[in-house]
Amino acid sequence: MTETHLTAPVDERSKGALADSGLRLSLVDPADAAALDAWIIADFRGFHGRRPTEEVLEEARGNFGGRRTTAVYDDGVSTPVGTVNSWVAPLTVPGGAALEAWAISSVTVAPTHRRRGIATALLGAELRTAHALGVPAAILTVSESTIYGRWGFGPATFATGWSIDAKRVRWAGAPTPGRLSFTTPEEYRETGYAVLAETMASRAGEIGLEPYLADRLIGPLKGDEDGDRRLLVRYDSPEGRPEGFVSYVVRGGEEDFSRHVVEVGYLAAATDAALTALWRFLLELDLVAEVKAWTRGVDEPVQLLVQDIRGARLTSVQDHLWVRILDVPATLTSRRYESDGDLVLEVTDELGFAGGRYRVIVEDGEARVESTADAPDVTLPVESLGSVYLGHDLARGLALAGRIHGDADALDRLFRTAVPPRLSTWF
Ligand SMILES: CC(C)(COP(=O)(O)OP(=O)(O)OC[C@H]1O[C@@H](n2cnc3c(N)ncnc32)[C@H](O)[C@@H]1OP(=O)(O)O)[C@@H](O)C(=O)NCCC(=O)NCCS
Repeated sequence: MTETHLTAPVDERSKGALADSGLRLSLVDPADAAALDAWIIADFRGFHGRRPTEEVLEEARGNFGGRRTTAVYDDGVSTPVGTVNSWVAPLTVPGGAALEAWAISSVTVAPTHRRRGIATALLGAELRTAHALGVPAAILTVSESTIYGRWGFGPATFATGWSIDAKRVRWAGAPTPGRLSFTTPEEYRETGYAVLAETMASRAGEIGLEPYLADRLIGPLKGDEDGDRRLLVRYDSPEGRPEGFVSYVVRGGEEDFSRHVVEVGYLAAATDAALTALWRFLLELDLVAEVKAWTRGVDEPVQLLVQDIRGARLTSVQDHLWVRILDVPATLTSRRYESDGDLVLEVTDELGFAGGRYRVIVEDGEARVESTADAPDVTLPVESLGSVYLGHDLARGLALAGRIHGDADALDRLFRTAVPPRLSTWF
Protein backbone atom coordinates (compact mmCIF):
# COMPACT_ATOMS: atom_id res chain seq x y z
CA MET A 1 0.00 0.00 0.00
CA THR A 2 1.76 3.22 -1.07
CA GLU A 3 -0.94 5.43 0.37
CA THR A 4 -1.65 4.86 4.01
CA HIS A 5 -4.53 5.93 6.18
CA LEU A 6 -2.54 9.07 6.98
CA THR A 7 -1.70 10.16 3.46
CA ALA A 8 -4.76 9.12 1.46
CA PRO A 9 -6.49 12.26 0.14
CA VAL A 10 -9.78 13.54 1.45
CA ASP A 11 -12.82 11.87 -0.13
CA GLU A 12 -14.01 14.02 -3.04
CA ARG A 13 -17.60 12.82 -2.99
CA SER A 14 -18.21 13.80 0.62
CA LYS A 15 -16.23 16.98 0.14
CA GLY A 16 -18.53 17.94 -2.73
CA ALA A 17 -21.70 17.00 -0.83
CA LEU A 18 -20.69 19.15 2.13
CA ALA A 19 -19.55 22.02 -0.09
CA ASP A 20 -23.06 22.08 -1.55
CA SER A 21 -24.29 22.88 1.98
CA GLY A 22 -21.63 25.53 2.54
CA LEU A 23 -19.42 23.25 4.66
CA ARG A 24 -15.79 22.22 4.21
CA LEU A 25 -14.41 18.70 4.68
CA SER A 26 -10.72 18.66 5.45
CA LEU A 27 -7.97 16.51 6.93
CA VAL A 28 -6.33 17.95 10.04
CA ASP A 29 -2.55 18.14 9.89
CA PRO A 30 -1.33 16.41 13.08
CA ALA A 31 1.57 18.88 13.20
CA ASP A 32 -0.83 21.84 13.31
CA ALA A 33 -1.36 22.08 17.09
CA ALA A 34 -4.01 24.82 16.90
CA ALA A 35 -6.12 22.90 14.37
CA LEU A 36 -5.75 19.65 16.30
CA ASP A 37 -6.68 21.40 19.57
CA ALA A 38 -9.85 22.80 18.00
CA TRP A 39 -10.70 19.34 16.70
CA ILE A 40 -10.11 17.76 20.14
CA ILE A 41 -12.31 20.40 21.79
CA ALA A 42 -15.08 19.60 19.29
CA ASP A 43 -14.65 15.88 19.95
CA PHE A 44 -14.93 16.30 23.75
CA ARG A 45 -17.95 18.57 23.31
CA GLY A 46 -19.59 16.04 21.01
CA PHE A 47 -19.56 13.47 23.81
CA HIS A 48 -20.71 16.00 26.42
CA GLY A 49 -17.27 15.97 28.04
CA ARG A 50 -15.53 18.75 29.94
CA ARG A 51 -13.63 21.34 28.01
CA PRO A 52 -10.10 19.86 27.91
CA THR A 53 -7.40 21.63 29.89
CA GLU A 54 -4.06 22.59 28.33
CA GLU A 55 -2.48 19.48 29.86
CA VAL A 56 -5.22 17.22 28.45
CA LEU A 57 -4.88 18.84 25.01
CA GLU A 58 -1.14 18.33 25.00
CA GLU A 59 -1.51 14.65 25.83
CA ALA A 60 -4.34 14.14 23.32
CA ARG A 61 -2.30 15.76 20.53
CA GLY A 62 0.35 13.12 21.06
CA ASN A 63 -2.24 10.37 21.18
CA PHE A 64 -3.93 11.30 17.92
CA GLY A 65 -0.75 11.87 15.88
CA GLY A 66 -0.97 8.42 14.30
CA ARG A 67 -4.60 8.73 13.32
CA ARG A 68 -6.24 10.09 10.22
CA THR A 69 -8.09 13.07 11.62
CA THR A 70 -10.92 14.62 9.64
CA ALA A 71 -12.91 17.75 10.38
CA VAL A 72 -15.92 19.53 8.91
CA TYR A 73 -15.74 23.31 9.10
CA ASP A 74 -18.43 25.90 8.80
CA ASP A 75 -16.26 28.81 7.79
CA GLY A 76 -16.44 31.59 10.31
CA VAL A 77 -16.86 29.10 13.17
CA SER A 78 -13.44 28.31 14.66
CA THR A 79 -14.23 24.89 16.13
CA PRO A 80 -15.05 22.08 13.69
CA VAL A 81 -18.75 21.19 13.41
CA GLY A 82 -17.96 17.57 12.57
CA THR A 83 -15.17 15.20 13.63
CA VAL A 84 -13.97 11.69 12.96
CA ASN A 85 -10.67 9.87 13.18
CA SER A 86 -9.46 6.51 11.96
CA TRP A 87 -6.49 4.16 11.88
CA VAL A 88 -5.76 0.61 10.81
CA ALA A 89 -6.09 -1.75 13.78
CA PRO A 90 -5.39 -5.48 13.93
CA LEU A 91 -8.72 -7.18 14.66
CA THR A 92 -8.36 -10.69 16.09
CA VAL A 93 -10.54 -13.09 14.12
CA PRO A 94 -11.52 -16.71 14.88
CA GLY A 95 -8.40 -18.86 14.70
CA GLY A 96 -6.23 -16.03 16.01
CA ALA A 97 -5.17 -14.20 12.85
CA ALA A 98 -5.17 -10.40 12.84
CA LEU A 99 -7.31 -8.79 10.16
CA GLU A 100 -6.39 -5.26 9.19
CA ALA A 101 -9.51 -3.28 10.06
CA TRP A 102 -10.34 0.38 9.59
CA ALA A 103 -11.06 1.55 13.13
CA ILE A 104 -13.30 4.61 13.31
CA SER A 105 -13.67 6.81 16.37
CA SER A 106 -14.73 10.26 17.54
CA VAL A 107 -17.72 10.61 15.24
CA THR A 108 -19.34 13.82 16.39
CA VAL A 109 -21.51 16.50 14.86
CA ALA A 110 -22.08 19.82 16.64
CA PRO A 111 -25.63 19.98 17.97
CA THR A 112 -25.96 23.26 16.06
CA HIS A 113 -25.41 21.36 12.80
CA ARG A 114 -27.13 18.02 13.42
CA ARG A 115 -29.28 16.21 10.86
CA ARG A 116 -27.79 18.01 7.91
CA GLY A 117 -25.95 15.02 6.54
CA ILE A 118 -22.57 15.65 8.17
CA ALA A 119 -22.31 12.17 9.75
CA THR A 120 -23.39 10.66 6.43
CA ALA A 121 -20.59 12.52 4.65
CA LEU A 122 -18.03 11.56 7.30
CA LEU A 123 -18.95 7.86 7.35
CA GLY A 124 -19.15 7.66 3.56
CA ALA A 125 -15.69 9.22 3.34
CA GLU A 126 -14.25 6.76 5.84
CA LEU A 127 -15.69 3.71 4.12
CA ARG A 128 -14.69 4.81 0.60
CA THR A 129 -11.17 5.64 1.77
CA ALA A 130 -10.76 2.33 3.58
CA HIS A 131 -12.12 0.44 0.58
CA ALA A 132 -9.86 2.28 -1.84
CA LEU A 133 -6.86 1.36 0.33
CA GLY A 134 -7.88 -2.30 0.28
CA VAL A 135 -8.76 -2.50 3.97
CA PRO A 136 -11.29 -5.35 4.14
CA ALA A 137 -13.49 -4.25 7.06
CA ALA A 138 -14.32 -1.24 9.19
CA ILE A 139 -15.03 -1.40 12.92
CA LEU A 140 -16.32 0.87 15.62
CA THR A 141 -17.85 1.01 19.10
CA VAL A 142 -20.98 3.08 19.39
CA SER A 143 -22.72 5.53 21.70
CA GLU A 144 -26.14 4.49 20.40
CA SER A 145 -27.08 1.30 18.63
CA THR A 146 -29.46 3.08 16.25
CA ILE A 147 -26.87 4.94 14.23
CA TYR A 148 -24.58 2.69 12.19
CA GLY A 149 -26.71 -0.04 10.64
CA ARG A 150 -27.53 2.32 7.78
CA TRP A 151 -23.87 2.27 6.76
CA GLY A 152 -23.65 -1.52 6.76
CA PHE A 153 -22.30 -2.09 10.26
CA GLY A 154 -23.70 -4.96 12.31
CA PRO A 155 -23.19 -5.68 16.02
CA ALA A 156 -20.63 -8.49 16.20
CA THR A 157 -19.71 -8.70 19.89
CA PHE A 158 -21.71 -8.04 23.04
CA ALA A 159 -20.38 -6.80 26.37
CA THR A 160 -21.63 -7.64 29.83
CA GLY A 161 -21.75 -5.64 33.06
CA TRP A 162 -21.64 -7.24 36.52
CA SER A 163 -22.45 -6.41 40.09
CA ILE A 164 -21.11 -8.88 42.61
CA ASP A 165 -22.23 -8.95 46.22
CA ALA A 166 -18.85 -9.41 47.84
CA LYS A 167 -20.36 -10.08 51.26
CA ARG A 168 -22.45 -12.92 49.83
CA VAL A 169 -20.14 -14.78 47.50
CA ARG A 170 -17.31 -17.09 48.49
CA TRP A 171 -14.61 -18.26 46.18
CA ALA A 172 -15.51 -21.61 44.62
CA GLY A 173 -12.97 -21.66 41.83
CA ALA A 174 -9.84 -23.73 41.61
CA PRO A 175 -6.74 -22.73 43.61
CA THR A 176 -5.07 -19.61 42.24
CA PRO A 177 -1.33 -19.98 42.38
CA GLY A 178 0.91 -17.20 41.20
CA ARG A 179 1.78 -13.81 42.62
CA LEU A 180 -0.27 -10.64 42.99
CA SER A 181 1.39 -7.33 43.73
CA PHE A 182 0.58 -3.64 43.58
CA THR A 183 2.38 -1.70 40.89
CA THR A 184 2.17 1.71 39.24
CA PRO A 185 1.49 2.67 35.64
CA GLU A 186 4.97 4.15 35.37
CA GLU A 187 6.63 0.97 36.59
CA TYR A 188 4.36 -1.45 34.76
CA ARG A 189 3.67 0.26 31.41
CA GLU A 190 5.95 -1.76 29.11
CA THR A 191 4.97 -5.03 30.80
CA GLY A 192 1.33 -3.97 30.60
CA TYR A 193 1.63 -3.39 26.83
CA ALA A 194 2.88 -6.96 26.41
CA VAL A 195 0.15 -8.41 28.62
CA LEU A 196 -2.49 -6.46 26.70
CA ALA A 197 -1.08 -7.56 23.34
CA GLU A 198 -1.32 -11.19 24.47
CA THR A 199 -4.81 -10.70 25.93
CA MET A 200 -6.09 -9.04 22.75
CA ALA A 201 -4.58 -11.67 20.47
CA SER A 202 -6.20 -14.46 22.47
CA ARG A 203 -9.83 -13.71 21.60
CA ALA A 204 -11.70 -12.94 18.38
CA GLY A 205 -13.21 -9.47 18.50
CA GLU A 206 -10.38 -7.82 20.42
CA ILE A 207 -8.14 -5.31 18.68
CA GLY A 208 -4.44 -4.62 18.95
CA LEU A 209 -4.14 -1.43 20.97
CA GLU A 210 -2.22 1.70 20.07
CA PRO A 211 -0.16 2.99 23.04
CA TYR A 212 -2.91 5.55 23.74
CA LEU A 213 -5.62 2.89 24.03
CA ALA A 214 -3.34 0.71 26.15
CA ASP A 215 -2.40 3.64 28.40
CA ARG A 216 -6.09 4.27 29.07
CA LEU A 217 -6.35 0.76 30.51
CA ILE A 218 -3.07 0.65 32.42
CA GLY A 219 -3.05 4.02 34.00
CA PRO A 220 -4.91 7.26 34.18
CA LEU A 221 -4.75 9.72 31.34
CA LYS A 222 -4.48 13.40 32.12
CA GLY A 223 -7.75 14.82 33.35
CA ASP A 224 -9.00 11.50 34.77
CA GLU A 225 -11.07 12.53 37.81
CA ASP A 226 -10.16 9.25 39.52
CA GLY A 227 -6.50 9.46 38.60
CA ASP A 228 -5.26 9.62 42.19
CA ARG A 229 -7.47 6.80 43.48
CA ARG A 230 -6.92 4.28 40.71
CA LEU A 231 -5.04 1.18 41.87
CA LEU A 232 -3.11 -1.27 39.73
CA VAL A 233 -2.42 -4.89 40.67
CA ARG A 234 -0.39 -7.25 38.52
CA TYR A 235 -0.57 -11.01 38.28
CA ASP A 236 2.53 -13.07 37.55
CA SER A 237 2.48 -16.83 37.07
CA PRO A 238 4.31 -19.11 39.54
CA GLU A 239 7.17 -19.05 37.04
CA GLY A 240 7.24 -15.26 37.21
CA ARG A 241 5.65 -14.58 33.83
CA PRO A 242 3.46 -11.44 33.68
CA GLU A 243 0.01 -12.58 32.57
CA GLY A 244 -2.55 -10.08 33.76
CA PHE A 245 -3.47 -6.97 35.70
CA VAL A 246 -6.47 -5.20 37.11
CA SER A 247 -6.98 -1.49 37.58
CA TYR A 248 -9.74 -0.41 39.94
CA VAL A 249 -11.14 2.37 42.09
CA VAL A 250 -12.60 1.99 45.59
CA ARG A 251 -15.50 4.30 46.41
CA GLY A 252 -18.05 4.90 49.16
CA GLY A 253 -17.70 3.61 52.69
CA GLU A 254 -18.90 6.95 54.17
CA GLU A 255 -21.91 5.48 55.96
CA ASP A 256 -20.51 2.04 56.63
CA PHE A 257 -16.78 1.61 56.35
CA SER A 258 -17.14 -2.11 55.72
CA ARG A 259 -19.22 -1.51 52.59
CA HIS A 260 -17.00 0.11 50.01
CA VAL A 261 -17.71 -0.37 46.30
CA VAL A 262 -15.01 -1.47 43.90
CA GLU A 263 -15.28 -0.36 40.29
CA VAL A 264 -13.08 -2.32 37.95
CA GLY A 265 -11.47 -0.08 35.36
CA TYR A 266 -9.99 -2.94 33.38
CA LEU A 267 -9.09 -6.56 33.97
CA ALA A 268 -6.55 -7.96 31.51
CA ALA A 269 -5.94 -11.69 31.55
CA ALA A 270 -3.77 -13.37 28.98
CA THR A 271 -4.34 -16.77 30.66
CA ASP A 272 -7.08 -18.50 32.63
CA ALA A 273 -4.80 -18.53 35.67
CA ALA A 274 -4.57 -14.73 35.52
CA LEU A 275 -8.33 -14.40 35.07
CA THR A 276 -9.21 -16.51 38.08
CA ALA A 277 -6.52 -15.07 40.33
CA LEU A 278 -7.60 -11.50 39.57
CA TRP A 279 -11.30 -12.22 40.04
CA ARG A 280 -10.51 -13.90 43.35
CA PHE A 281 -8.46 -10.92 44.43
CA LEU A 282 -11.36 -8.57 43.68
CA LEU A 283 -14.01 -10.71 45.35
CA GLU A 284 -11.98 -11.19 48.52
CA LEU A 285 -11.06 -7.55 49.11
CA ASP A 286 -11.79 -6.59 52.70
CA LEU A 287 -14.17 -3.77 53.59
CA VAL A 288 -15.90 -4.15 50.23
CA ALA A 289 -19.59 -4.93 49.71
CA GLU A 290 -19.86 -4.76 45.93
CA VAL A 291 -17.60 -5.28 42.92
CA LYS A 292 -18.73 -3.78 39.64
CA ALA A 293 -17.23 -4.57 36.25
CA TRP A 294 -18.11 -3.74 32.65
CA THR A 295 -17.16 -4.68 29.07
CA ARG A 296 -16.68 -8.30 30.05
CA GLY A 297 -17.47 -11.11 27.61
CA VAL A 298 -20.85 -12.80 27.27
CA ASP A 299 -19.13 -15.94 28.56
CA GLU A 300 -17.65 -14.25 31.64
CA PRO A 301 -17.31 -17.15 34.10
CA VAL A 302 -17.59 -15.21 37.36
CA GLN A 303 -20.89 -16.84 38.40
CA LEU A 304 -19.25 -20.23 38.23
CA LEU A 305 -16.29 -19.09 40.29
CA VAL A 306 -18.39 -18.35 43.37
CA GLN A 307 -20.43 -20.66 45.55
CA ASP A 308 -23.59 -18.50 45.34
CA ILE A 309 -24.38 -17.87 41.70
CA ARG A 310 -27.04 -15.26 42.49
CA GLY A 311 -24.50 -13.20 44.35
CA ALA A 312 -22.95 -12.37 40.96
CA ARG A 313 -25.54 -10.46 39.03
CA LEU A 314 -25.45 -9.71 35.32
CA THR A 315 -26.46 -6.04 35.12
CA SER A 316 -26.20 -5.38 31.40
CA VAL A 317 -25.67 -7.04 28.06
CA GLN A 318 -25.23 -4.70 25.15
CA ASP A 319 -23.90 -4.56 21.63
CA HIS A 320 -20.29 -3.50 21.63
CA LEU A 321 -18.09 -4.00 18.54
CA TRP A 322 -19.76 -3.23 15.21
CA VAL A 323 -18.27 -4.69 12.04
CA ARG A 324 -18.69 -3.41 8.48
CA ILE A 325 -17.42 -5.81 5.86
CA LEU A 326 -15.94 -4.13 2.80
CA ASP A 327 -14.37 -7.15 1.10
CA VAL A 328 -16.15 -10.48 1.52
CA PRO A 329 -13.42 -12.86 0.22
CA ALA A 330 -10.64 -11.16 2.22
CA THR A 331 -12.57 -11.19 5.49
CA LEU A 332 -13.99 -14.70 5.18
CA THR A 333 -10.67 -16.27 4.19
CA SER A 334 -8.74 -14.60 7.01
CA ARG A 335 -10.65 -16.39 9.80
CA ARG A 336 -10.82 -20.09 10.61
CA TYR A 337 -13.94 -22.22 10.99
CA GLU A 338 -14.71 -24.99 13.45
CA SER A 339 -16.59 -27.18 11.01
CA ASP A 340 -16.35 -27.69 7.29
CA GLY A 341 -19.12 -26.76 4.87
CA ASP A 342 -20.13 -25.33 1.56
CA LEU A 343 -22.57 -22.42 1.34
CA VAL A 344 -23.60 -19.92 -1.30
CA LEU A 345 -24.14 -16.48 0.22
CA GLU A 346 -25.96 -13.66 -1.52
CA VAL A 347 -24.71 -10.50 0.15
CA THR A 348 -26.55 -7.26 -0.46
CA ASP A 349 -24.86 -3.94 0.15
CA GLU A 350 -26.73 -0.70 -0.52
CA LEU A 351 -23.48 1.25 -0.52
CA GLY A 352 -21.99 -0.99 -3.19
CA PHE A 353 -18.79 -2.19 -1.53
CA ALA A 354 -19.31 -5.85 -0.76
CA GLY A 355 -22.43 -7.04 -2.55
CA GLY A 356 -22.32 -10.19 -4.63
CA ARG A 357 -22.91 -13.92 -4.63
CA TYR A 358 -20.15 -15.96 -3.09
CA ARG A 359 -19.56 -19.65 -2.63
CA VAL A 360 -17.78 -20.29 0.67
CA ILE A 361 -16.08 -23.68 0.81
CA VAL A 362 -14.53 -24.60 4.14
CA GLU A 363 -12.12 -27.51 4.31
CA ASP A 364 -10.02 -28.30 7.36
CA GLY A 365 -11.20 -25.04 8.89
CA GLU A 366 -9.97 -22.86 6.05
CA ALA A 367 -12.24 -21.07 3.61
CA ARG A 368 -12.02 -20.53 -0.10
CA VAL A 369 -14.40 -17.90 -1.46
CA GLU A 370 -15.42 -17.75 -5.11
CA SER A 371 -17.90 -15.67 -7.04
CA THR A 372 -20.72 -17.87 -8.28
CA ALA A 373 -23.97 -17.77 -10.23
CA ASP A 374 -25.39 -20.75 -8.28
CA ALA A 375 -28.61 -20.34 -6.32
CA PRO A 376 -27.95 -18.90 -2.85
CA ASP A 377 -28.41 -20.94 0.33
CA VAL A 378 -28.49 -17.78 2.39
CA THR A 379 -29.32 -14.18 1.46
CA LEU A 380 -28.32 -11.46 3.87
CA PRO A 381 -27.43 -7.76 4.00
CA VAL A 382 -23.81 -6.91 4.66
CA GLU A 383 -24.61 -5.77 8.22
CA SER A 384 -25.86 -9.28 9.09
CA LEU A 385 -22.70 -10.80 7.65
CA GLY A 386 -20.73 -8.40 9.87
CA SER A 387 -22.76 -9.60 12.87
CA VAL A 388 -21.99 -13.29 12.37
CA TYR A 389 -18.45 -12.82 11.07
CA LEU A 390 -16.61 -13.14 14.39
CA GLY A 391 -18.46 -16.27 15.52
CA HIS A 392 -21.31 -14.96 17.65
CA ASP A 393 -24.53 -17.01 17.75
CA LEU A 394 -26.68 -14.33 16.14
CA ALA A 395 -27.79 -16.05 12.93
CA ARG A 396 -30.99 -17.48 14.34
CA GLY A 397 -32.17 -14.20 15.85
CA LEU A 398 -31.33 -12.29 12.69
CA ALA A 399 -33.31 -14.85 10.68
CA LEU A 400 -36.30 -14.44 13.00
CA ALA A 401 -36.03 -10.69 12.48
CA GLY A 402 -36.05 -11.12 8.70
CA ARG A 403 -32.44 -9.99 8.35
CA ILE A 404 -31.17 -13.36 7.15
CA HIS A 405 -33.10 -15.44 4.61
CA GLY A 406 -32.58 -19.06 3.70
CA ASP A 407 -30.69 -21.66 5.66
CA ALA A 408 -29.66 -19.59 8.71
CA ASP A 409 -28.90 -22.78 10.68
CA ALA A 410 -26.30 -23.82 8.13
CA LEU A 411 -24.80 -20.33 8.28
CA ASP A 412 -24.75 -20.57 12.07
CA ARG A 413 -23.06 -23.99 12.05
CA LEU A 414 -20.38 -22.74 9.72
CA PHE A 415 -19.65 -19.36 11.30
CA ARG A 416 -20.29 -19.82 15.04
CA THR A 417 -17.37 -20.53 17.35
CA ALA A 418 -17.38 -22.44 20.64
CA VAL A 419 -15.86 -19.44 22.42
CA PRO A 420 -17.84 -16.29 21.63
CA PRO A 421 -16.03 -13.20 20.40
CA ARG A 422 -15.42 -10.37 22.83
CA LEU A 423 -14.18 -6.81 22.74
CA SER A 424 -13.20 -5.76 26.26
CA THR A 425 -12.44 -2.10 25.65
CA TRP A 426 -13.86 0.98 23.93
CA PHE A 427 -12.19 2.82 21.10
C1 LIG B 1 -24.87 10.70 15.89
C2 LIG B 1 -24.45 11.95 15.13
C3 LIG B 1 -22.98 11.81 14.75
C4 LIG B 1 -25.31 12.06 13.86
O1 LIG B 1 -24.86 13.14 13.07
P1 LIG B 1 -25.78 13.91 12.00
O2 LIG B 1 -24.88 14.73 11.17
O3 LIG B 1 -26.89 14.58 12.70
O4 LIG B 1 -26.35 12.71 11.11
P2 LIG B 1 -26.91 12.83 9.62
O5 LIG B 1 -27.55 14.16 9.42
O6 LIG B 1 -25.86 12.46 8.64
O7 LIG B 1 -27.99 11.68 9.68
C5 LIG B 1 -27.90 10.49 8.92
C6 LIG B 1 -29.06 9.61 9.24
O8 LIG B 1 -28.86 9.05 10.54
C7 LIG B 1 -29.99 9.34 11.36
N1 LIG B 1 -29.46 9.55 12.70
C8 LIG B 1 -28.55 10.45 13.06
N2 LIG B 1 -28.31 10.34 14.37
C9 LIG B 1 -29.08 9.35 14.83
C10 LIG B 1 -29.29 8.80 16.11
N3 LIG B 1 -28.63 9.24 17.18
N4 LIG B 1 -30.16 7.77 16.22
C11 LIG B 1 -30.85 7.33 15.13
N5 LIG B 1 -30.68 7.84 13.90
C12 LIG B 1 -29.82 8.85 13.76
C13 LIG B 1 -30.60 10.56 10.76
O9 LIG B 1 -31.96 10.68 11.12
C14 LIG B 1 -30.41 10.31 9.29
O10 LIG B 1 -31.37 9.39 8.84
P3 LIG B 1 -31.93 9.39 7.35
O11 LIG B 1 -30.72 9.14 6.47
O12 LIG B 1 -32.90 8.26 7.35
O13 LIG B 1 -32.51 10.73 7.16
C15 LIG B 1 -24.66 13.20 15.99
O14 LIG B 1 -25.99 13.25 16.42
C16 LIG B 1 -23.76 13.30 17.20
O15 LIG B 1 -22.70 13.89 17.13
N6 LIG B 1 -24.17 12.79 18.35
C17 LIG B 1 -23.38 12.88 19.60
C18 LIG B 1 -22.09 12.07 19.55
C19 LIG B 1 -22.33 10.65 19.16
O16 LIG B 1 -23.21 9.98 19.67
N7 LIG B 1 -21.53 10.17 18.21
C20 LIG B 1 -21.58 8.81 17.77
C21 LIG B 1 -20.36 8.17 18.30
S1 LIG B 1 -20.40 6.44 18.15
